Amino acid sequence: MKLSGNTILITGGTSGIGLELAKALHAKNNKVIVLGRNEAKLDAAAETGLHTIQCDLEDQGSIENAVRRIEQEYPDLNFLVNNAGVQHNYLFTEAVTPFRRVQQEIQCNLTGQIILTQMLLPLLRVKERACIINSTSGLGAFPKPDGIVYSAGKAGMRNFTTGLRYALQGTPICVMEFIPPVTATPMTAGRQEAKMQPDELVARILPQIEKERKILTVPAMRIFLWIAFLAPDLAFRILMKKEK
Ligand SMILES: NC(=O)c1ccc[n+]([C@@H]2O[C@H](COP(=O)([O-])OP(=O)(O)OC[C@H]3O[C@@H](n4cnc5c(N)ncnc54)[C@H](OP(=O)(O)O)[C@@H]3O)[C@@H](O)[C@H]2O)c1
Repeated sequence: MKLSGNTILITGGTSGIGLELAKALHAKNNKVIVLGRNEAKLDAAAETGLHTIQCDLEDQGSIENAVRRIEQEYPDLNFLVNNAGVQHNYLFTEAVTPFRRVQQEIQCNLTGQIILTQMLLPLLRVKERACIINSTSGLGAFPKPDGIVYSAGKAGMRNFTTGLRYALQGTPICVMEFIPPVTATPMTAGRQEAKMQPDELVARILPQIEKERKILTVPAMRIFLWIAFLAPDLAFRILMKKEK
């Protein structure tokens, strides 16, 4: 995938990894549109030259409005990054979980972005070359006990990504999965563990996008994916050690 001259939509592009990716791609002569809910964050992004769309991925009407705007204002769209995410850390087995919490993690992390993707397919598939990148997580390969709903949503997104890749074989759309390591963003603000900086992560990922690698990530995560697949008990011990 060439990294210039694209029209790119990044969900959750107003913060953390998404914002860093948006800035890097904007600097490479792409038209970058960031999608989020928070008006102040959208305004701040607009000041740096990014285009913005306000949308709540938990609300179907809001997604439909966003898609209408994209069709009208950005018909050149050829690059979609499903990056928005929310993570609640709590012990699912220890308390009654508010309905809203469960719903939010599934709707934002999975359902909303599946619906958005399907609605944007007609725009993407008529381009000479297009791509869809879905942000998942190592927790989609192996769940951690204080985030099993988040992990379940990310596992769903992993499966959706693989399915979409096969379903779109023979079309101009390539599908990639982005698995960030633990990265210093508002999402991980309270966590005491080694974190990669978003700019370093993006610098490592861009050449992988260019090569259209199926999984965009860092070497340690590639090893973790194999461990989760071959030796789940060891994956569990690694995650528990990280939590301490
Ligand atoms: N950071 C990590 O260590 C890490 C590790 C593995 C995977 N990931 C994944 O990487 C992606 C980016 O994470 P991050 O750490 O950069 O997160 P972040 O800094 O917390 O940013 C989250 C973004 O998602 C948007 N968002 C949240 N709920 C939304 C909703 N309902 N509708 C529309 N936008 C919504 C937020 O915008 P508003 O504030 O406007 O809602 C914000 O732009 C996520 O998918 C996350 O699961 C992160």
